[in-house]
Amino acid sequence: MSQPVAIITGASRGIGAAAAILLAERGFSICVNYLNAKEKAEEVVNAIKHKNGKAIAIKADMGNENEIMRLFADVDAALGPVSALVNNAGINGGSCDLASISFDTLHSVFAINVFGTFIACREAIKRMKQIGGGNIVNISSEAAKFGGTKIAHYSASKAAINTFTLALARETAPFNIRVNAVSPGVIDTEIHHASSPERIENLLKSLPMGRMGKTEEVAELIGWLLSPQSSYVSGAIIPVTGSR
Ligand SMILES: NC(=O)c1ccc[n+]([C@@H]2O[C@H](COP(=O)([O-])OP(=O)(O)OC[C@H]3O[C@@H](n4cnc5c(N)ncnc54)[C@H](OP(=O)(O)O)[C@@H]3O)[C@@H](O)[C@H]2O)c1
Repeated sequence: MSQPVAIITGASRGIGAAAAILLAERGFSICVNYLNAKEKAEEVVNAIKHKNGKAIAIKADMGNENEIMRLFADVDAALGPVSALVNNAGINGGSCDLASISFDTLHSVFAINVFGTFIACREAIKRMKQIGGGNIVNISSEAAKFGGTKIAHYSASKAAINTFTLALARETAPFNIRVNAVSPGVIDTEIHHASSPERIENLLKSLPMGRMGKTEEVAELIGWLLSPQSSYVSGAIIPVTGSR
């Protein structure tokens, strides 16, 4: 039997890279999507191949419809139809109050975090219906629930992902396609490099376990959601917050 195929968007580093490595260990052929970090994406591919897994790296801007469609076509040709999609690529646009927000920042945060997720799901679902089912995990954020601090643009984009997850799960359930969201709290990745030192200091003070989460701790939940063990879980938005 051929291996199931998983696309992980934004998998050159952070949560996406950890998910790609874990899913390869669980038997998926992996597409490591990236935008800028070609070398890091290739490192993830090599780490997977080193453990006898199957992976390819594909550059595509998840904020661009044509590039997303080309990504899925390239995966069809190289690995076969996708049965698992992790919509992980995301940016926070940096912290600023609403008075200073630019249209460009708003546009890029929503294009990548929201529109890209919609279009990737559209492309995945076409293929999943043809193969009799599939499984989607959207990466949200706890900021969706409390608004974040000076990060309304990002928080609102992730709130859109939560509602989209609920709606899509209901729409695709009759087709044997599950859709869930993972909602991380504060995870130790480079996404925080765009934040001010003051914001990071405040974040750290707010963490009940006294530490950020690890990317592998988020990847474990993604792996479970993409496994048969979670077969009746769909339309769920699951926090990974260390009790924050
Ligand atoms: N870390 C946290 O505390 C946290 C908390 C809640 C939610 N999240 C969410 O978790 C997801 C992953 O975050 P992370 O912390 O792992 O981020 P990260 O370390 O900054 O990595 C972001 C990844 O997304 C990719 N990416 C960015 N823009 C892209 C685009 N237009 N097209 C394709 N790929 C793109 C980057 O690729 P290149 O490097 O190749 O450009 C990189 O692989 C995001 O959706 C984020 O909002 C993170």
